[in-house]
This record gives sequence, structure tokens and C-alpha cells, in this order.
Amino acid sequence: MAQGRRLLVLYGSQTGTAEEMAVHGSSRLALAGAAPICKSLSECSLQSLQQAEAAVFVVSTTGDGEAPLTMRRFWMTLRKRDLDQACLANLSYAVYGCGDSSYPKFNAVARRLDIRLQALGAKRLCDVVLGDEQSPLGVAQGLSEWTDRIASKLKLLHSDHMDKYLHTHQAMKYFLGSRDGASVKRKPMDFSDYEETVHSLSLCSQIVLFANGNPLSKQMCSGTKNAFSLLRLAGLSFSYFDTSLDQEIRESLTRRFQVNPPFVCGNGSILVSRDELRALEENITLGELSLQRLMCFQEPGDRYERSLNDDLRAGDCGENRTQHMWDSESISNHIPGIRESILKATVKFVSTLTKGRDFDVNDVRHVELKLPNEYRYKAGNVALIMPRNRPCCTERFLRLLRLNGNTIIDSINVSNSSFDFLLNRLNFRLPCTVREIVSSQLDLEGRPQPYLLHLLSYFADDAEEAERLAYFASTEGVEDRIEYCEKTKRTILNVLEDFPSLCKADFSHLLAILPRLQPRAYSIASSPLAHSQELHFCIVVVEYRSPLGRSLKKGVCSSYVSGLERFDCLPAAIFPDFGCGLAFNFFKPAIVIAAGSGIAPFRGILWERKMMKEQSLPVCSVLAIVGFRYRKADYMYEKDWEELFSNDHDAVLKLAFSRDGKQKEYVQHKIALFSDEIWDALTRGAVIYVAGSAGAMPRAVEEAFIKVAAERIRDPRSLEQWTHELKTKRLRVESW
Ligand SMILES: Cc1cc2nc3c(=O)[nH]c(=O)nc-3n(C[C@H](O)[C@H](O)[C@H](O)COP(=O)(O)OP(=O)(O)OC[C@H]3O[C@@H](n4cnc5c(N)ncnc54)[C@H](O)[C@@H]3O)c2cc1C
Ligand SMILES: Cc1cc2nc3c(=O)[nH]c(=O)nc-3n(C[C@H](O)[C@H](O)[C@H](O)COP(=O)(O)O)c2cc1C
Repeated sequence: MAQGRRLLVLYGSQTGTAEEMAVHGSSRLALAGAAPICKSLSECSLQSLQQAEAAVFVVSTTGDGEAPLTMRRFWMTLRKRDLDQACLANLSYAVYGCGDSSYPKFNAVARRLDIRLQALGAKRLCDVVLGDEQSPLGVAQGLSEWTDRIASKLKLLHSDHMDKYLHTHQAMKYFLGSRDGASVKRKPMDFSDYEETVHSLSLCSQIVLFANGNPLSKQMCSGTKNAFSLLRLAGLSFSYFDTSLDQEIRESLTRRFQVNPPFVCGNGSILVSRDELRALEENITLGELSLQRLMCFQEPGDRYERSLNDDLRAGDCGENRTQHMWDSESISNHIPGIRESILKATVKFVSTLTKGRDFDVNDVRHVELKLPNEYRYKAGNVALIMPRNRPCCTERFLRLLRLNGNTIIDSINVSNSSFDFLLNRLNFRLPCTVREIVSSQLDLEGRPQPYLLHLLSYFADDAEEAERLAYFASTEGVEDRIEYCEKTKRTILNVLEDFPSLCKADFSHLLAILPRLQPRAYSIASSPLAHSQELHFCIVVVEYRSPLGRSLKKGVCSSYVSGLERFDCLPAAIFPDFGCGLAFNFFKPAIVIAAGSGIAPFRGILWERKMMKEQSLPVCSVLAIVGFRYRKADYMYEKDWEELFSNDHDAVLKLAFSRDGKQKEYVQHKIALFSDEIWDALTRGAVIYVAGSAGAMPRAVEEAFIKVAAERIRDPRSLEQWTHELKTKRLRVESW
């Protein structure tokens, strides 16, 4: 592939890891001279694949070997039986899987995708790589080599030297234009290694220099001159921005380089000082230049004030306290059909379902939202909620980077069009405050993956810190990283605090490399028929201490939701296909197994069933086995269960309280105990629905069912057949 030819980098991601890998991979490919289009598989059609030169897939596996939500529609298209067997004959492709070998169906999606692409005639660029969360360097182990191999297969430039150039290129990712340029920090580029810099700069289609400082210091001035000389010597065109050049220096630069400001360069960037900008705005004769492309370091002006206020008004919802810039755009990139599903619900109330004070039980909240009138969903659906960082974390980050959270960002420019894909990651509408961006976009409490430590090492201003970060990201440093990160459950924010020189990095660069905050999925615990225009959730507030006893850790989304108050606005999206793990059939006998917060989807489903029955519909029989710890402390929705199972001969409820007796008794033990009733339902064709924690429960439940069958089916082959049918057709699990 010739330099500059485009290729698709497509990701299918459930919780953001594959997306981050795809962005990282795209950066490397862009550095090698490609102009990748990096996007979610939800935005990819078969036709766009057929038109591409090459497609690079980064896909994760979720559920029980299932495709992530973002790629389900794409996968269904690709699996269609009537597709021409050579329909992808012109496509070269590569697949990287994000998976975890502790799951039985390790990287099932990446494997299936690889096989299917080949079956449709596509040509492998290189072998599929199965990234593994369990491997010493995490799921990204092998990613860099994989992208480099692709780059060399595509005959891109310099694929073997990319790491060397990463620093310079990272430093040119994109720039945030604020009204107060000084408060969004930027870092001068290091031009000390002439050859290397020229080489790497020559890969860029546009170069932007900042000479910043108020007033411009002598030192900066010589740095700027060097940069000018270097770029001119290398024969590269460039753009130059300065907010504060004094007249004398400006004139000397103009004389020396025989150019007159404003300098207009290849891609339409322009040098402007505040005064010049004002003058420009007054007599707009910019021709093809778009004002948006200017880096506007101007004083707050009426125009911007007005649009900001409009923005906030648009986000208002009742008497809400929280201002959300988050809206349909912020997750529309990720999930097919979600734009239509976005709703802005208001909180009716949040209550506590458990009594944690005297018992060892989770803090679980019942959340009730009021839906906008026109909203429809189905019982058993899943909603996505976009969290925000805890205010204390947002403020810590702002303090660390010495950022003024109130600074308003007006514009974002990518300095190199090969990196345009980075703009897709920025799901906020401008203008927007720095605080809003930090609060809604950055995964501050996420896990610092080795690849992130590697990238951060380029941004550490202190050589020792840079070396240590690179060491943690390396194979030799695995054990120390596990000790440092995993055992203490350090967050990304903790790492920034531990390596102070990272905080000298530009905010815009950190924004480019830190992972995004991802929406979280929650089973809807209400029924459209029983709870008109309401949406209920049953949410465990995640709180834990790391094994090494660092401070208390809190789940981002569950903490956020638990802190909401009446009339707060909670943007959520209902995604009908998400619940397809359960896909409850109201007309076939059902065995329902739920533990802990796994009761959430069944509360909604069983209320729906009750309402349908009241309308004389021929609904299915239900045998439900539901598990809690203590009857007194976490028997959640007790009144609902009583109402749902009383006066209904076709509905039976068995309860398991694991900590009430001398011996622990879980739902799987109840399956054994009531095996006759279970077998009876199974012989009537019952479908089994399981929901709850993704830990040991789903497998223990599956084994309990197999044991029930093994006690009744003597012939080994028939038993094997029965087990196969159970796993492939009868058992539907939704676990988290
Ligand atoms: C289809 C589906 C439906 C779901 N439905 C529900 C539901 O109805 N109710 C519900 O509560 N959740 C549900 N979830 C889970 C939910 O999406 C979130 O994962 C959960 O609320 C945690 O999100 P968080 O942002 O609060 O925590 P995060 O900030 O994402 O933190 C969670 C992470 O913290 C770490 N962690 C948590 N506990 C410990 C511990 N004890 N020790 C060490 N590390 C730990 C783990 O790394 C874990 O991944 C569902 C998930 C899916 C996929
Ligand atoms: C609920 C759940 C189910 C998972 N199921 C599988 C699986 O069946 N096979 C597998 O290889 N990995 C599985 N994983 C691991 C993920 O694939 C892995 O963590 C991956 O890096 C996540 O990428 P994503 O954030 O892009 O979705 C599962 C993870 C979760 C949380």
C-alpha cells in the first residue's frame, strides 16, 4: 500500500479495551505513513469493507463467547448464508482479539471472525493474534508487533522505527484552543536530535509550532528560532502560532525568514495574535479559510458566551443540579441504533435495598426514573448509562495538571490529517469547559494497562520517571508492575500522582492517550406494562479495598448513580438487542435462576408476565430459584416476589439464603434439592434463564443442571446430546 493510502481500523468493543487498542494501533499505523480510518464496527457496512484496501479488526469477546454489542449487527451481516463466497476477495485483513483465557471460550469472537473473513475470500495480512488479559503484559501484549507487521505487509514507511518517532508525533496529536491559551498547557517540542526530528516530521502532512509564553522569554525565543531554522532547512512547510510575540522579535523573525505574518500554510492554518484575530474577525476576508480552523486565543466574547449558555439550557432537565454536556453524540459512535434510543430521564428517587450496617452484604440501590412520554422498551432489555467521574477525582486531576477547570475550550485541531480519527474520540460538544471534559470523558479510575504506561513513558518530563514507566510496561518489569498496579488496584489517576513529571504534559496530549470513560450496562428491573413510563434499576454500589490495603476504591458508575437525587437528569440509552443473552420467551415454560443483582431483569420480566396474565394471555409457567445472603439483610424486593408468586399456580418461587444456615446454600444447591420439579419443567421444554455475577455461579448452575439430567438419563450418548442441547439452545445466561 502506498504511503497515505487509507485503511480501516475497526473495533468491536464492549467495555472499551478493544477500542483503546484500535486507537493505539491506528496511531502506530498513522506514524508509519497510513491514514487509517478508525471506527466502531457498528459504523461499518459490508460495502465499506468491500471498498477498503485493507481492514484491521480489533475485537473483544464478551458474555459466554459472544460478540460485543458494538459488532453484533456487523457480525449478523457477515454471517448471512446467502453472501457470495468471494465477496471480500479484494480485501486484505488482520484480526487482533481481546480476550481472557480464564473464560472457556477464549477469544471466540476473534477466531470466528478470522475464519469467516477467510471463507468470504479475504486475504490474511498476518496471523490472528489472541490478546489475553491473563498474559504478563495484559491484553495488549503483541499489539505493537502486530501493527508493525501489518505496516510492513502494507509496505508503509518506517514500520520498524516507529517507537523512535512516537514522542515527536505524540506531541503533535491535537491541540485544544481555549479563550485563555495560557491555561491549557502546552509543551515545547524537543528539537535536540536534528536528524531524528526531521525524519519524523517529514511523515507529517502538517506541522504546527507554538511559540508560547507571555511575554516570550529569551530562551523560548531561541527555541523558536531553532525550530524555524530546522523546518526551513528540511524544506518542510509549517504553521506557526503565537499569541504574544513582541513587535521586535516578530520583525526580526519576519526579516530572517522573509515571510510576513500571518503565515498561511498548506492546510489552511494561520498565525494569529490576539490583535490580528480581532482584526480578522472584523473584516472577514478569509476566503476558503474557515474560522473554526483558527486556534482562537481570544478573550471571552459575546459570541461564545451565548453559545455556551444555549448549550447548557439544552441540557437542562427539570430542576436538575447536574449539568450534562453528555448527549446522544457521546455514545453514538459506539453502538448501532443507539442514537434513536437515547433518552434523558429524570430521577424519581434512589433508595437503599439492603441493610449493610450489621451484615456483610453489598450496598444495593433501587433507582427509579421517569421516562419521557414517548419512550418504549421491552421487559428484560438492558440500558446503558454514561457515568461521570466522581467530583473528587476530577478536581484531583485538575489540580495535578494545574488546569483551570472553568477554561472554555472553543476549538480542537488535529495537526496531522493522518490523525483525524482522534477527533472521533472526542464526544463532547464545543464550547465546553475543561472540567466537563475531564468529568465526562477520561477514565481516571480505570486500570492502567501496560500499553498505557508505555505511552505515558513518552510524556514523562523526568528521565527516571520515564524509565520506570517504560520498565513497568516491559516484559522484565511484569512482576513489579503487578506489585505496583494490580495488587494495589492503582488507578490511572494514582499513576499520574505517583509520576509528577507526567503532569507537565499537555492536557490535549493526555486527552489523546488516556482511555475514555465507557458507558455501563444495567438490566432494566421494571416492566413497561406494570410501571408505566418508568425505568427501574437495581444497582450494586461497587466498593472494595485492594489486597494491599490502599484507600477505598469505588465503582465509577454505581457511585455516580447512587449519588443522584430527585429531578437529576440521567442520560441513558436502551438497547433492545443487548438483552439477547436472555431473550425471554413469555410463552414457553421457564426456569429462572438469579443471584444478587441478577434479580434485576427478572423483576421486570415477571411483572410483565403477571400483567400479561391479567390480560388473559396464555403466558408460560415459571419455576424461579432466587439467591440472597441473609433474609434479614438483602432479601431485595420481598414484597414484589410475594405479589408475583401468590395466587398463581403456574409460578413457583424457591429461595436460597446462602448465609442464614450453618452451611452455605446457593442456587445450585436448590437445583439439586428440587431436581424433580426441575426435571418436570425441562421435560415440558422449559428454557433456563440465568442472571447474576460472572464469577463461579453460572458454571455451577450449568453443572447442577447436567447433574440433574445425569441422574435420569442413563445412556451416555443421549446424555451428551442433552448436554449439548442445554449449552447451545436451552441455557441463556446474562452475567456481569
Ligand atoms: C448485560 C449487563 C447487565 C448488567 N446489569 C447490572 C445490574 O442490573 N445491576 C448491577 O449492579 N450491575 C449490572 N451490570 C454490571 C454493570 O454494568 C457495572 O459493571 C457495575 O455496576 C460496575 O460498574 P462501576 O462503574 O460502578 O464500577 P467500575 O468503576 O467499572 O469498577 C468495577 C471494577 O472494579 C474492580 N472491582 C470491583 N470489585 C472488586 C473487588 N471486590 N476486588 C477487587 N476489584 C474489584 C473490578 O476490576 C471491576 O471490573 C451489568 C452488566 C452487564 C454487562
Ligand atoms: C462479562 C464478561 C464476559 C467475558 N467473556 C469472555 C469470553 O467468553 N471469552 C474471552 O476470551 N474473554 C471474555 N471476557 C474478557 C474480555 O474479552 C476482555 O476483558 C477484553 O479485554 C474486554 O475488551 P472490551 O473492553 O473491548 O470489551 C469477558 C469479560 C467480561 C467482563
